[in-house]
Amino acid sequence: MASVAALLLALLFSISASGNAQPKVPAIYVFGDSTADVGNNNYLPGNDAKANFPHYGIDFPHSRPTGRFSNGFNGIDFLAGHMGFRRSPPPYLSLTNKTSHGILKGLRGVNFASGGSGILDSTGTTITMTKQIKYFATIRSRIAARLNAERTNDVLSKSIFLISAGGNDLFAFFRQNNAPNNTQKEQFYNTLIYNYKNHIEALYDLGARKFGIIDVAPIGCCPSSRVLHPLGDCIAVLNELAVGANDAVKVMLSNLHSTLKGMNYSLGSSHAVVSNIIADPGAAGYKEVQSACCGGGKLNAVSGCMPNATYCDDRKEYLFWDGVHPTQGASKKAGFAIYNGSLQYASPINFKQLVEDHS
Ligand SMILES: *[C@@H]1O[C@H](CO)[C@@H](O)[C@H](O)[C@H]1NC(C)=O
Ligand SMILES: *[C@@H]1O[C@H](CO)[C@@H](O)[C@H](O)[C@H]1NC(C)=O
Ligand SMILES: *[C@@H]1O[C@H](CO)[C@@H](O)[C@H](O)[C@H]1NC(C)=O
Ligand SMILES: *[C@@H]1O[C@H](CO)[C@@H](O)[C@H](O)[C@H]1NC(C)=O
Ligand SMILES: *[C@@H]1O[C@H](CO)[C@@H](O)[C@H](O)[C@H]1NC(C)=O
Repeated sequence: MASVAALLLALLFSISASGNAQPKVPAIYVFGDSTADVGNNNYLPGNDAKANFPHYGIDFPHSRPTGRFSNGFNGIDFLAGHMGFRRSPPPYLSLTNKTSHGILKGLRGVNFASGGSGILDSTGTTITMTKQIKYFATIRSRIAARLNAERTNDVLSKSIFLISAGGNDLFAFFRQNNAPNNTQKEQFYNTLIYNYKNHIEALYDLGARKFGIIDVAPIGCCPSSRVLHPLGDCIAVLNELAVGANDAVKVMLSNLHSTLKGMNYSLGSSHAVVSNIIADPGAAGYKEVQSACCGGGKLNAVSGCMPNATYCDDRKEYLFWDGVHPTQGASKKAGFAIYNGSLQYASPINFKQLVEDHS
């Protein structure tokens, strides 16, 4: 009896909580790595790239670890919020026949992102982007089975396809070669872009038209990189790789925009957001931009944010939650800048313009 009442209450609450904003797009489909994962990896065997235990989620409603690599919400949740959703759509692997029926009916979207994955299928051991897109294809065919072809294409063309990936490819390349020369870097960018382009074209062929792409942050400055430097400085090579890869992605997207009919995009710059915070932490409201809040050892980044780790109380003053990932507060800032910011944060248009474009 009590549980029925609780269920009803929860249902009412979820309706009223989500009822205050009207989604601006039919659905959001999310691809990428731990910067976007909201719990897909919880369903994978083994212990790779998981965040479904304390102290992850300590600032999430009910202090619940969800699989997000954050103390609370991640950047995708905030972007989804700006688009009128309560948070990111649910992880693909959490869908049961019952919930997937509801999602298909409501066409609100699905999150396929998997921590540890990259643009390259050779990166990591979790759900590759190729597989994430295959999963989307199954969702698409279920949508198409409910609607006719024309309506399916119409709905997908108005939906937003978010991709946040690349950091893990750079880390993997760096582990193989921590002092690449220019030729090696160029070869790496070419491989990366060739694959990224194929992924975007595959999504386009499945009906995607509006792409919100998130670039790679200055990953040489995350705590787990800094601990590799004797003085705790940023690792220059990793930062160079991030800039080089981001520049190449920019050119690739601009080319796709002119070759794929009706394709539109915004390139959101987590790189600009994080660089600006590090350049002047005080101005951005941060006290600590080098150490992780949660973890152990030097800069709290030698051992991970495991249940036995300590964590900071003043999380709003930290840029990094763990050795690699931003705090909820930093993600909120990034979400705002990318959604409604100037060209420095999102180009050639921001996410808001992408969402509101009806041409
Ligand atoms: C879910 O639906 C699919 C397709 O309709 C069916 O093949 C599968 O057996 C169902 N799974 C469960 C657990 O009911
Ligand atoms: C870059 O390094 C590779 C491998 O050591 C070497 O074969 C190549 O000649 C180098 N290229 C340049 C331009 O230095
Ligand atoms: C937590 O436990 C892991 C092993 O499970 C260990 O490697 C790590 O150093 C411990 N961290 C702290 C802060 O004690
Ligand atoms: C978005 O940015 C514009 C221009 O800076 C500003 O006028 C507007 O209030 C912002 N909208 C939201 C929802 O913050
Ligand atoms: C993309 O969106 C912008 C901003 O609304 C618009 O000016 C442009 O025409 C759109 N391009 C395409 C190909 O839809």
